[in-house]
Amino acid sequence: MAMKVLVTGCAGFIGGNFARALDAEGIPFVGVDNFTPSYALWVKKANIKPLLGSKFGKFIKADICAKKLYGKLSREGITHIVHLAARTGVRDSTRVPEEYLGTNILGTLNVLEFARDNNVENVVLASTSSVYGRNELPFSEGQAVSTPMSIYAASKIGMESLAHSFHNVYGVPMTILRLFTVYGPGGRPDMAVYTFTDLISRGEPINIYGSLDSKRDFTFVSDVVDALLLALRRNAGFDVFNIGNSDSRSVGELIGIIEKNVGAKAKKRFVAKAREDVDATLADISKARGQLGYNPKVRLEEGIEKFVQWFNSVQFRGRAGVSRLAKKRA
Ligand SMILES: NC(=O)c1ccc[n+]([C@@H]2O[C@H](COP(=O)([O-])OP(=O)(O)OC[C@H]3O[C@@H](n4cnc5c(N)ncnc54)[C@H](O)[C@@H]3O)[C@@H](O)[C@H]2O)c1
Repeated sequence: MAMKVLVTGCAGFIGGNFARALDAEGIPFVGVDNFTPSYALWVKKANIKPLLGSKFGKFIKADICAKKLYGKLSREGITHIVHLAARTGVRDSTRVPEEYLGTNILGTLNVLEFARDNNVENVVLASTSSVYGRNELPFSEGQAVSTPMSIYAASKIGMESLAHSFHNVYGVPMTILRLFTVYGPGGRPDMAVYTFTDLISRGEPINIYGSLDSKRDFTFVSDVVDALLLALRRNAGFDVFNIGNSDSRSVGELIGIIEKNVGAKAKKRFVAKAREDVDATLADISKARGQLGYNPKVRLEEGIEKFVQWFNSVQFRGRAGVSRLAKKRA
């Protein structure tokens, strides 16, 4: 049977990039997103816009927690699922924990029941490096993931556990990808790469949580899209893969690269490290390299250059959108 992919979270950062890749490859898909106002909605609208006239894809505005969505989807002939819909953001999960557990666990339950009832051939689920907490570096798939530092991480460990139990009880094929700090065009305004670029270019101070030595394994979005495509085509039983760049870089280095691309110096304001944050992440990607054929190509210097180009091309519209949203909320 020809492949037809359900992409949940299709208007999000990774979902938008992934759906555009499906479209470019001519792979039929159905995208679902409820436009959660977790960040400026203009970004989500911009992500979805190129897909609205797509020959291969169709978009449904809906909540994955609402059961009625699945009746509609069962008439679509879905063969594969890429499950990206989630409440995202580490610190925000402390503010609205019910929303994180509701979408990331109960929403996932609906997606998995749909997969079981429609004999889906592979469910690819987006998990996160946050499941590793403060484990020893580099993080590898064989490590225990039982000490989450945030409610977001706990919700994603819950999602992974649920996926494993579904595979065991019903035999639903599952591929879990643990993604490491993804950045690139369409990037989330609540993440450091976007916030730093925005504030540095406006001459406003940036908050440094803790120290400039915190490290992240920054992963460019096109490498993540490649990993999703590889995982999708995998003959799945159940497995978990790290998807990172295997190149941990400090916040100080990140700021230096952004300064160079923006052409301005950052004003740094040091604030206390959040309890939810970890000091460093680094992915051991040997399993994904060996078994999926994953091979990240974009180094941080090149990726930030591409991000800043995108940012400059949308920032006027973005600011207008952000201020409209701020007015609406006030
Ligand atoms: N960006 C990263 O650095 C990163 C790192 C690790 C894991 N991930 C995971 O990858 C996935 C995609 O992340 P992203 O960065 O694109 O985030 P995102 O917030 O841009 O995308 C998530 C999308 O899901 C949608 N959504 C949320 N709740 C929903 C619901 N109940 N029903 C339907 N849609 C809903 C949102 O509106 C949003 O468009 C998430 O599962 C996230 O946890 C991301």
